[in-house]
Amino acid sequence: MEDKVSCQSLVGRSLGIRAQPDVLITARQPLMAEHARPHAERQSPKLPWKVKSARSDTRVHDTTSTLQRTSPTSPLPQKPRTQPPAAVDADEPPPLPAAPRRSRHSIRSARLRVQVAAHAVVRNGVAPRGFRFQPCGSAEFRWTASANSNWLVDPLNGDKFIKVAEVQGTEIKPFVESLSKCPKHGLHNPLKAPERYLMYGDISAKAAHMLGQPMVSDFFAKLIQRVSPKSYQQALAEVQVSQKFLENFCGDQVRFLARSFAVPGNHLGQRSNGYHWPYGPVAIITPFNFPLEIPLLQVMGALYMGNKPVLKVDSKVSIVMEQMIRLLHDCGLPAEDMDFINSDGVTMNKLLLEANPKMTLFTGSSRVAEKLASDLKGRIKLEDAGFDWKILGPDVQEVDYIAWVCDQDAYACSGQKCSAQSVLFMHKNWSSSGLLEKMKKLSERRKLEDLTIGPVLTVTTKAMTEHMNSLLKIPGSKVLFGGEPLENHSIPEIYGAMKPTAVFVPLEEILKSGNFEIVTKEIFGPFQVVTEYYEDQLELVLEACERMNAHLTAAVVSNDPLFLQDVLGRSVNGTTYAGIRARTTGAPQNHWFGPAGDPRGAGIGTPEAIKLVWSCHREIIYDIGPVPKNWTLPSAT
Ligand SMILES: NC(=O)c1ccc[n+]([C@@H]2O[C@H](COP(=O)([O-])OP(=O)(O)OC[C@H]3O[C@@H](n4cnc5c(N)ncnc54)[C@H](O)[C@@H]3O)[C@@H](O)[C@H]2O)c1
Repeated sequence: MEDKVSCQSLVGRSLGIRAQPDVLITARQPLMAEHARPHAERQSPKLPWKVKSARSDTRVHDTTSTLQRTSPTSPLPQKPRTQPPAAVDADEPPPLPAAPRRSRHSIRSARLRVQVAAHAVVRNGVAPRGFRFQPCGSAEFRWTASANSNWLVDPLNGDKFIKVAEVQGTEIKPFVESLSKCPKHGLHNPLKAPERYLMYGDISAKAAHMLGQPMVSDFFAKLIQRVSPKSYQQALAEVQVSQKFLENFCGDQVRFLARSFAVPGNHLGQRSNGYHWPYGPVAIITPFNFPLEIPLLQVMGALYMGNKPVLKVDSKVSIVMEQMIRLLHDCGLPAEDMDFINSDGVTMNKLLLEANPKMTLFTGSSRVAEKLASDLKGRIKLEDAGFDWKILGPDVQEVDYIAWVCDQDAYACSGQKCSAQSVLFMHKNWSSSGLLEKMKKLSERRKLEDLTIGPVLTVTTKAMTEHMNSLLKIPGSKVLFGGEPLENHSIPEIYGAMKPTAVFVPLEEILKSGNFEIVTKEIFGPFQVVTEYYEDQLELVLEACERMNAHLTAAVVSNDPLFLQDVLGRSVNGTTYAGIRARTTGAPQNHWFGPAGDPRGAGIGTPEAIKLVWSCHREIIYDIGPVPKNWTLPSAT
C-alpha cells in the first residue's frame, strides 16, 4: 500500500485564486525523513518559513502518521543514498558540502536537519484541507482541489507519484473573473500606488533571504531533481540563479525598473514624460525543464511592473512553483496579485481566449508558440525552441576545456535545455586535436545514478532512435558515440532514455534541402549533430546558421578577433557567447537570455528583459500652460 500525503490548493477567496494542484505524494517522495524525527518535533516542525494551521493540529498528525515509512533523500528511488556528485561545471557555483553519513537516528546531523526542514516544507506545503497560510497582513486564502486530477508517473521508475489537479475547461470561470478584475492600467504604475514598487522590493529581499538558506535551497534543488531529473549541481544552480535574481531586485531596484524620463516641450508648461506602463491582466505559460527559474523570474518581472499574472507551469513539474508561491506569500506577496492554474494546454488555450489577457509570455515549443501567436492575434511574447549552434574557429587551443564545455552544453540536464548545443561546426584544424575522442570519453562518465544522464520527458527513446536513423541515411553520416538506449534502468517507455549521442553529418549534405530540415530539427534530449568545415567553407557554415529558424543561443569558440567579428557580424542569435570559453548554455540572472530575429522574441533575467516583456511605453505630454496673453484665434488649418 502506498503512503500518501494529500494536498489541496489555494483559493484566493475574495479575488478568485482558484483550483490548484491536488498533489498526492507517495512514500517515495525524497525529501521526507519522518522516520528519523522524534515525536515532539513531528508535532511542531521547524519550518524554513512560517505556516499557521487554521484548524486543530489533528489532521497534521494524521498526515504525519502516513509518512512514517517514508524514506530516501536522494532523487533516485533505486539508490536512495546517492551523494551529490562532485562539481563538474566550473561556471556553476560549488555544491553544498555533502554531509557525512550518519546514523539513521542521529537527529543532530546537519544532513538530517536539512531533511527535516525540507520535509516540513513538503508536509505543510501539501497540507490537507483546512490548512491556510496567513501571509503578513494579507487577505486570507487557501488552496483547493479541482474536480479532476491526474497521476504523474515517476520518470525514474514508472510508478504513480504525484497527483496533480487538472482544471477542466468548464472550471475556468473563476480565473477569467479574477483576471477581469485587473484594469489595463495594472495594479500599480508610476502614477498609481507607487508604494507597491517598494513592497515588491521588500518581498524580493525576503524571498532572496529565504531561498539563500541552505536548507531551503537544498529543498528546492531536490524537489526540482525529483520532477525534472537532472544532476544536483544543475538543479541547485537553478535555485541559485533564482535567488540571485531576487537579490537583484531588492530595495529600490523594482522602482528603478519603472524609471521614466522627461523631455522639455516647445513652450512653457509643456513637457513629455515617457513611462513604463503595465499591461494589466497577463498570462505566463512555462515548460517542464526549469520548474523554478523560468516561472519565478517571469512572474516576478510581471508583478514588478504592475501586472496581474495567471501562471500555468507544465503540470509535470508544477509542484516546485507551487511551493515557491507559498514561500512568496509568506514573504508578503498579496494573494490577490496572481493566480496559479494547473491544467492541460487545451484548457489553458481556452482560458487565454476567454480571459483575453493583454499580454501572454509563452516559453515552450515553437509549435505551440505559433498556435498561440495566431489565437491571440499577436498579443504575445515568445521564448521558443532552440536549435543552438557552436562554431569552433581555426585557432585550436584548450582542447580539454573545450571538450568539457561541449559535453556540458550538449548533455547536461540530458540535453533538455533550450540552449543545449544542437550542432557543432568544427574547423578542420580540430580534427587531429583529439577533441571528439575527449567528448566521447566525457559523455561516457555520465550515469543515471547521479542524474548526469537521465529521463527525457518529451521525446521517447523510439523517437530519438528514429531521428538518428533518418540522419544516418544521409551519405557520409555516422554515429560518433552513443546512439543506443540507456541500459539497466526502470525509466518508463513514455519517456526517453538515451545515451549521450553525437552523429556526424558532412556539411555539404546538411545544406541540401530535405536534409537540412531533418538535421535542424530540435531533439529535446541528449543529442547533437557534429560537422566539419575547411577554411574556405565558413560561408557554408554561416549559410546554415542563416537558414535556421530558431535563433536562441550560439557560441563562437575562438580568440581570433577577426574571426569573431566576421561570425558575430553575420549572425543573429539572441544570446551569443564569444571567445575561447564560449558555451551555448547558461541563463544566469546577470545577462539577457532570449531569442533574437523575431519581433515577438522575449527575454528573461535582466532589467532590460523585464521592461521589454512586462511593460509597454506610455508617453504623457503635459501642457499645463499658461496660454500666452496675446493669443488670438488662428485661421483654420
Ligand atoms: N526559449 C526559451 O527560453 C526556452 C526555455 C525552455 C524551453 N524552451 C523550449 O520548450 C520546449 C520544451 O518544452 P515542452 O516540450 O514542454 O513545450 P510545450 O510547448 O509542449 O509546452 C510548454 C507549455 O505550454 C503548455 N501548452 C501546450 N499547449 C498549449 C496551448 N495550446 N495553449 C496554452 N498552453 C499550452 C504546456 O502545458 C506547457 O506548460 C523546447 O522546444 C525548448 O526549446 C524554450
